[in-house]
Amino acid sequence: MPLKTDTVDTKTPFSTLIRTATEQQHNEAEHSTFMRDMLTGNLGVQAFYRYTAQLWFVYDALEKHSAALAADPVAGPFVRSELDRLAAIELDLAYLGGPNWRDELVALPSTAAYAARVEECARTWPAGYVVHHYTRYLGDLSGGQVIRGTAEKLWDLPKKGDGVRFYVFDAITNPAAFKRDYRENLDRMPIDGPEVDRVLDEARLAFTMNTTMFQELGAEFSARN
Ligand code: HEM
Repeated sequence: MPLKTDTVDTKTPFSTLIRTATEQQHNEAEHSTFMRDMLTGNLGVQAFYRYTAQLWFVYDALEKHSAALAADPVAGPFVRSELDRLAAIELDLAYLGGPNWRDELVALPSTAAYAARVEECARTWPAGYVVHHYTRYLGDLSGGQVIRGTAEKLWDLPKKGDGVRFYVFDAITNPAAFKRDYRENLDRMPIDGPEVDRVLDEARLAFTMNTTMFQELGAEFSARN
């Protein structure tokens, strides 16, 4: 269990608490060897394909309970169809992997564990689900855009087209405003007391689960190259 280092200050907006609580974990995810090697072109497009395939499991878990969570008082405000990524991921996988992409869709152990945790939260703990939602979708709207530009250049993918559709949010015309609204929803979340610490622990876990997935992807690809 991580050390409880957060002071629960009721005056600090929750969107600030969650960002600062996960700063170190964000840094670790961003600077993981796999991300660095992939985004500097050391691993080739196969690594990007395999990485995108792992995302299929994560977004399947995030999006399969949307209908049930839409009416939930805690998670409901975050469930927005503009964010849906699964259909875009499937187009990317078909482009990157060809007609047999579904047969090649295999979750790494870390991916399966991550998706299972997201589903568990979706079924039993809406505030935990929000944390996983935040970790992925707000990241996709932020640093995800760096990944898209790099991938397009490295592997000559059609700009904002097949291969990188996951990173393109056609239905969000103003990402900065969308992120602002999203943070306001975070700030309105009805949580306090020990639940805040529990939620921040889950946020750190969410980032760490991404890093673990990158480590497994890294092991697979460095072994091949
Ligand atoms: C190459 C990898 C990455 C880069 C370059 C990157 C870069 C960034 C940048 C520049 C921001 C700030 C954007 C802003 O203030 O609007 C950001 C925010 C964020 N990133 Fe990343 N990131 C990367 C990987 C990740 C990963 C792997 C995750 C988690 C799965 C993640 C989750 C987030 C989240 C949740 C935010 C929003 C923080 C907030 O404002 O509350 N990022 N990222």
